[in-house]
Amino acid sequence: MVKKRKILVMNGPNLNFLGIREPGIYGRQSYEALVGCLKEQAEKLGVEIECYQSNHEGALIDRIQQAYFEKIDGVVINPGALTHYSYALRDAIASVEPIPFVEVHLSNVMDRESFRHVSVTKEVCIDQISGLGFESYVKGMEKLIAHFRAEDEKNS
Ligand code: DQA
Repeated sequence: MVKKRKILVMNGPNLNFLGIREPGIYGRQSYEALVGCLKEQAEKLGVEIECYQSNHEGALIDRIQQAYFEKIDGVVINPGALTHYSYALRDAIASVEPIPFVEVHLSNVMDRESFRHVSVTKEVCIDQISGLGFESYVKGMEKLIAHFRAEDEKNS
């Protein structure tokens, strides 16, 4: 039996407050609802997932470094506001370069305040998906799966 790929879904500051924070922008569904939805989708896509959320930059960096030793196959990350200024998070992603990352956002960051137009993390990710709500994460998982397939073909 082929071993399932493992995807880590990471969420940064304030994403545990989904359903409470600015529902007009982020919707009325909770973080737990997001995790439930992603687990269901992962099952359909045939991958294993683990979800991790922290409000702390250092904890997110520690989790990324741990992912390297655990040989996680890929990461879907919504860094929240850290997207726009955290060079430390960017460096952490670049440090584990063999692991592909897809950056996702619930809201369409390009349609919002100008400080949100900048992403310091997206250049070290294989793609950025924004503005599709929970679907941004599903598309992120699909991107990673397509990436795994392309890598497998290259190596066969
Ligand atoms: C966000 C967009 C960021 O600008 C914001 O700081 C967030 C959430 C999104 O998912 O739309 O916390 O990453």
